[in-house]
Amino acid sequence: MSSDQSSIVAEGFTDTASDYDDAVRFNIGGAQRLIMSIPAGQYDDVIDIGCGTGWATQALVDRFRPARITGVDPSEGMLEQFQAKLSGIDGVEITLAQGDVEHMPVADGTFDLAICSMAYHWFPQKWAAAEAMARTLKPGGVLAILCSGRGGERAYRDILANLEPMNYTWLGAFDAVQRDIPEMEDYLLKAGLEVEDVWMERRIRHTTVEAYVERMRVVAGHLIGDQSEGDVAEYMAQVEQKMREASGPRGWTYDFTKLYAIARKPT
Ligand SMILES: C[S@@+](CC[C@H](N)C(=O)[O-])C[C@H]1O[C@@H](n2cnc3c(N)ncnc32)[C@H](O)[C@@H]1O
Repeated sequence: MSSDQSSIVAEGFTDTASDYDDAVRFNIGGAQRLIMSIPAGQYDDVIDIGCGTGWATQALVDRFRPARITGVDPSEGMLEQFQAKLSGIDGVEITLAQGDVEHMPVADGTFDLAICSMAYHWFPQKWAAAEAMARTLKPGGVLAILCSGRGGERAYRDILANLEPMNYTWLGAFDAVQRDIPEMEDYLLKAGLEVEDVWMERRIRHTTVEAYVERMRVVAGHLIGDQSEGDVAEYMAQVEQKMREASGPRGWTYDFTKLYAIARKPT
């Protein structure tokens, strides 16, 4: 990953770090289900890659109470939120490491468990990212991933696809981000892991146009790139208008698709 790309994503998440928990609160259940799916065991040393504000680590502490957790994220703002949420838990030592997945400042082969919750979809090099995550594990160590699944957010994508001038960056993001079960399995196998389980979860959600657009601002703000504030405001006014027209009595309705994976490093 180029350092430019890494810093654009990191700055985007730093700008929205303090709004993250409020905008994405309905999503906490996904991180909890990921943690519930990890095989029972003793995990003393854990790494949370793309740790963000620490929901997944919080669920992990509740279930496994590991001795040591390292939170890795390129975003300084997210690491600050992570520290505020997780420091001071009795018997759990928290270490923060600023960096992207391909350049994690941690030693290879030192973790019993690596988790990566709702971050893998933002990694621009999925093969290299899977290999980098696998490298952190001890033999027998477990990798647990939750990310955006292919096919979700179709209603939003359809609105973008029918607005002119065409916003190729935002439209292209769906293909860059979403993945399906066989693709995930290939990444993990190529990284030398034994795949224990890969599955997809699909829901329909009803929300307000405002809440949906706010979530997009918070989780995908970095996709704005070098578009001017005025251009983005004008474009978003059109998007919101189309979303209101497409909304029904239960509000704005969309599919939300999540891809989960559990894999293990051979002993
Ligand atoms: C949507 S948040 C998810 C945070 C948290 N894991 C959760 O479950 O809520 C995505 C996180 O991935 C981080 N991230 C984005 N690109 C990354 C990269 N290349 N390497 C590591 N982390 C990255 C972001 O900074 C952000 O904190």
